[in-house]
Amino acid sequence: MKNQTCPLPGRTFRVMVALLLLALMQACSPGSGENLDENGNPVDESPALALSPNFNSIQANIFTPSCALSGCHSGAAPQAGLTLQTGLSFQALVNQASSEVPALQRIEPGNPDDSYLIRKLEGTASVGVQMPRNAAPLSSEKIRAIRDWISAGALGPSLSSIQQNIFTPICTQCHFGSNPAAGLNLQAGESYDQLVGVKRSFGDEIRVVAGDAGNSFLIDKLEGNALGGSRGDRMPLGGPYLQQNVIDVIIDWIDAGAKND
Ligand code: HEC
Repeated sequence: MKNQTCPLPGRTFRVMVALLLLALMQACSPGSGENLDENGNPVDESPALALSPNFNSIQANIFTPSCALSGCHSGAAPQAGLTLQTGLSFQALVNQASSEVPALQRIEPGNPDDSYLIRKLEGTASVGVQMPRNAAPLSSEKIRAIRDWISAGALGPSLSSIQQNIFTPICTQCHFGSNPAAGLNLQAGESYDQLVGVKRSFGDEIRVVAGDAGNSFLIDKLEGNALGGSRGDRMPLGGPYLQQNVIDVIIDWIDAGAKND
């Protein structure tokens, strides 16, 4: 296999970039538009997703800007067979064997130390170089976010991940079978039809409004928002309650359209 290199490889290239930037800075003397990028397009000033130990945040703050670059972990033939593009990275990482050290998984939920991704980022892998290649290592804050996300189970914002890590182990002890608590069965194969677009048992609110976590009764039940009366108690009944970064995964799944994925 031919060993391709990522962009930004050498000194000559960096000198060229520096010269280009200098030329651009001179071209951008006062009046030529402060909120424009190097191509003259408006700079996106929407608030960035804060760094937190949550898959979508890690994708936006780390994988997309630092890894899914052209010639690196993106495209039809990504380096080491690993794509880190939005929409593809979760499946490529979690419970998937590393191609360099197949005995290790790229991400082993609950076990950051033995997750090959962490070893590559911390520079302790036995094969190849520290990632990101030809760039400064990730800050300890970013690596901490990835470690914490893995420790908490490496949840992804898809129903199958939520089912496997939350509904099945935590909720189905009450929400199961033909007479489930509150008429809500959260077993695998049932949860989607029971949640999405379905009214709650004792009122008109919808359990999960696809695309709108803020109006989904399920989230109120998990966060404990304005409960009591016919709205009942916080779930899981009696606690311990889900951590906010775990609830955030369910919010992300709903806001992305609550697909049966
Ligand atoms: C120990 C039993 C128990 C566990 C565990 C439990 N629930 Fe419940 N759940 C109930 C009971 C009982 C009700 C009805 C009373 C209430 O709403 O407070 C209910 C009601 C609900 C409702 C309202 C449904 C409706 O249509 O009114 C939702 C949503 C819900 N639970 C979600 C969950 C989720 C998600 C989990 C897991 C994270 C969970 N529950 C864990 C017992 C449980």
